[in-house]
Amino acid sequence: MQKGLAAVILAAGKGTRMRSALAKVLHPICGQPMLSYPLEAAKQAGFKQLKVVVGHQAEQVTEAFPGDEITWIQQTDQLGTGHALMCAADSLRGYSGALLLLCGDVPLLQAETLERLLRYHSQQQAAVTVLTAQMPNPAGYGRIIRDGEQVLQIVEEKDATEEQRQVTEINTGTYLFDAAFVLSALKGLNKNNAQGEYYLTDVVAAAVAAGEKTRALCVDDPTEVMGINDRCQLAEAEVLMRWRINANLMFGGISMPDPTTVYIDNGVEIGMDTILHPNVHLRGKTSIGKNCIIETGVVVVDSQIADNTHIKAGSAIEESQIGENCKVGPMAHLRPGTVLVGNNKIGNFVETKKIYLGEKSQASHLTYLGDAEIGTNVNFGCGTITCNYDGLNKHKTTVEDDVFVGSDCQFIAPVKIGRNSLIAAGSTITKDVPADALALSRVEQTVIAGWRLRKQKKS
Ligand code: UD1
Ligand code: CA
Repeated sequence: MQKGLAAVILAAGKGTRMRSALAKVLHPICGQPMLSYPLEAAKQAGFKQLKVVVGHQAEQVTEAFPGDEITWIQQTDQLGTGHALMCAADSLRGYSGALLLLCGDVPLLQAETLERLLRYHSQQQAAVTVLTAQMPNPAGYGRIIRDGEQVLQIVEEKDATEEQRQVTEINTGTYLFDAAFVLSALKGLNKNNAQGEYYLTDVVAAAVAAGEKTRALCVDDPTEVMGINDRCQLAEAEVLMRWRINANLMFGGISMPDPTTVYIDNGVEIGMDTILHPNVHLRGKTSIGKNCIIETGVVVVDSQIADNTHIKAGSAIEESQIGENCKVGPMAHLRPGTVLVGNNKIGNFVETKKIYLGEKSQASHLTYLGDAEIGTNVNFGCGTITCNYDGLNKHKTTVEDDVFVGSDCQFIAPVKIGRNSLIAAGSTITKDVPADALALSRVEQTVIAGWRLRKQKKS
């Protein structure tokens, strides 16, 4: 028996309306699978035992959440929400106290709301407390039938009378139960309803019949409890989640002149006084330091950027680490394994991959640096290319401190350039260069006087 408050999350449904080979609860919202949000909210609200009921595409779903934090409950046939909780009964044997039930497709629900629901449920000593919302258009939802504070029953739309359908207070599908009560009440459920399913909602009427207290807590903002059934609702949820993320960051001291076009994945960290211009995308495990400027059209994926760095328009940065006081772009492409130690400049149309660039080193224009270890204070002229690939294998270029590389040079790797040497413009370097040397590999220039004029006269 595990310890701590228990939560059951229902995620066995088919999600037909998504029209997708991907399980509904795995569709991403701001970079994370939908299911991660209710899990996170339950955890933050203090629920330690997390049990997720899976059925359709169960393998896909369980594989997306490795580790042993979650207990997976199999519901092979989806016979309704009541049946889904029945499937979890074994894993809850001996558990008493408050039991939270959530739906895996309600991603905007916040931990604070769950905390409020738990407080109210405990205060009231209810057998069932249901989270509700006022919906101007309640179509499709179960309706809350009250007698004052006591909830008499929840009626599904398909089973409701015309009068019951007029009720605008709806069931969000989020509940707190007294565990002992609900586990015994589940045994009394039947399928005598319009959908021929075991309705979890029927435990409300069962509680009333048993003389128990049933309560409802209504959320202030109905968008928080929206369920995702199709891709339009998915997009709607993404917009709301994105606004939540951006608003939190703005309250934390980050500027966004146009937050509606800034796309930041959940969990990205950003320091104070950083400015994010329009059309910036920050994805995955990314962090940005303080006082940075991220210009328009920049895409950063799984990368760390330190303080006071300026990323100029149109740059793409993947799996890279950028130190303090760097200038990158416009239109630079930093590919996986790029490390800029600090005070570096990577200019326009420069591509890097798997390089270590020491302090103050720079490549300002039209350059490719790949598989290279570069010391401090190295300057690469325009059009430098590390020729790292021979068609079969990748080879390394090493450039020691204080080297000056003139424009249009190629390094045929593997090759090593000693410290404080100078590579003359237009050189193709095939052999190691010792420290303090000049390396030059140009064909002597030939000039033939009057050659063109003679050609022109002939034709
Ligand atoms: C349910 C509620 C309804 C409420 C609505 C809120 C019932 C009978 N009705 O209706 O009152 O207004 O949610 O969105 O509970 N699931 C399983 N196994 C099953 C059936 C469903 O895991 O056998 C899961 C689904 O994956 C989903 C959740 O339970 O995450 C809700 O199921 P769904 O079929 O969408 O319920 P509704 O008919 O919308
Ligand atoms: Ca249903």
